[in-house]
Amino acid sequence: MEERSQWGTNIGFLFAAIGSAVGLGNIWRFPYVAYENGGGAFLIPYVVALFTAGIPILMLEFALGHHKVASAPKAFHQIDSKWEWLGWWAVTFVLFGISLYYIVIIGWCVNYMLFSLNLAWGDDPNAFFFTKFLKVPFDEALQAPANGQVWAMSGLRWTIAGAVALVWLTNWAIVYGGVQRGIERAAKVMMPLLFVITLAIIVWALFLPGAGKGVRHYVTPDFSKITDLKVWIGAYGQIFFSLSLGFGIMIAYSSYLSRDANIFRNSLIVGFSNSIYEVCAGFGVFSILGYMATQQDQEISDVVSSGIGLAFVAYPKAISLLPFGELFGFLFFLLLIIAGISSSISIIEAFTSAILDKFTLPRKKVITAICVLGFVGSLLFATNVGLLWLDIVDHFLNQYGLITVGIVEAFVVGWLYRTDKLKAHIVSNLGLSGTRHKIFDYVVLQLWMYCLRFVTPVALGIAIVHSLIQEFASPYEGYPVSGVIVLGVGWLLITHIFAFGLSGLPWRGETSR
Ligand code: PHE
Repeated sequence: MEERSQWGTNIGFLFAAIGSAVGLGNIWRFPYVAYENGGGAFLIPYVVALFTAGIPILMLEFALGHHKVASAPKAFHQIDSKWEWLGWWAVTFVLFGISLYYIVIIGWCVNYMLFSLNLAWGDDPNAFFFTKFLKVPFDEALQAPANGQVWAMSGLRWTIAGAVALVWLTNWAIVYGGVQRGIERAAKVMMPLLFVITLAIIVWALFLPGAGKGVRHYVTPDFSKITDLKVWIGAYGQIFFSLSLGFGIMIAYSSYLSRDANIFRNSLIVGFSNSIYEVCAGFGVFSILGYMATQQDQEISDVVSSGIGLAFVAYPKAISLLPFGELFGFLFFLLLIIAGISSSISIIEAFTSAILDKFTLPRKKVITAICVLGFVGSLLFATNVGLLWLDIVDHFLNQYGLITVGIVEAFVVGWLYRTDKLKAHIVSNLGLSGTRHKIFDYVVLQLWMYCLRFVTPVALGIAIVHSLIQEFASPYEGYPVSGVIVLGVGWLLITHIFAFGLSGLPWRGETSR
């Protein structure tokens, strides 16, 4: 039996965990979500969500993994074998759902990093992205992809498939090296690099003419939005995805910490770093949009676009206008690639860790098998309709998968396992004594427990019910019902079956259950 891996240092762990949290979601999702949901005023629900769900669940995952020295399935199995499936489900749908398309998006970034060098998108980045690069069925009237044609698959996009192969290979090479010599070492290179490039881009952007106009749009508070339930749901959703919660990742990562690690401090550091990063990234993104609006004599609302459109349509437009845009574009897409890979390796590790906990298998072979399977799976999203598929799968996994895991986690730990044991575990390494110990125990951890038992499940429950109601009111973004059912619901069901199957198999050392 192989020995359980360990991080070399706490800093190494922090880099890896922050690397997982800081991803594509921070750079292109957050700024847009904040802008749409009230700008500066969005910070209120956002901070509330961070304190009532983000940090509490993060601390739960860290404490659970560290206390049980186990990946998600094993940790839940130890609480009660009935809940083992939850751990399997998380790591399964995340690996065979999220990572498959997440890596495809990183693959697009690889292409775009090279396209930046000669501004290959020309003067119509919108048409270039959809019709030349992705070759997705296109609605000329709307100048957008034709969502109705989700089944019109005509073949693989080779440039994308090639880049995807490269990204999987990089992931494989990093995770193959092991926790300490692979992930930790890579994180120690990637995170400082990420920081430097981000800083360079933000400073560059802030000094562009018109940057102030963009930033003003980003931060101007629209307090009327605060009473809108959707804004609150947006805040909880963002915090959840952005902190990589409900992925089983943070459980696996903290299981490799040394016994004397400080879980409380680590949770705060990771939680705050991730949020500070995304709020700052917003300044860079909106400065660029402000510059572009100014150059073209347009309003910010005309140049801003959501998610994928922001990185692959709006940004290329801005890059073409910038002096030394080629360099800026190269750095921007490189930044996305680094942020993306430091997240995707964490998914592979979470699944690997689960498999190794349960079965007696050699780590390296498991990783190679996962990466080969993952690459093949990713090709599903590298066809001409890949964009439409990933949009549906992403919507379902994020709106329902992660949030369900969060609710059940909070319920299982808060009500069945009782947080007392985890509380004791968290306190044990803080080195507090006397009154400080009492205050910490009775105030801070009591609040934490209260959040896990009541606030988190209720807030996430409202979010999920609200999404379900919307789902029935109108099919998601005009996709045909067959697409939504097969790709969205199908993905959730198949991964569930897989999870139940895996949790039914005997643990190593056991002959049958
Ligand atoms: N936190 C990541 C992000 O913001 C989400 C993620 C984590 C995605 C791990 C993939 C893998 O992008």
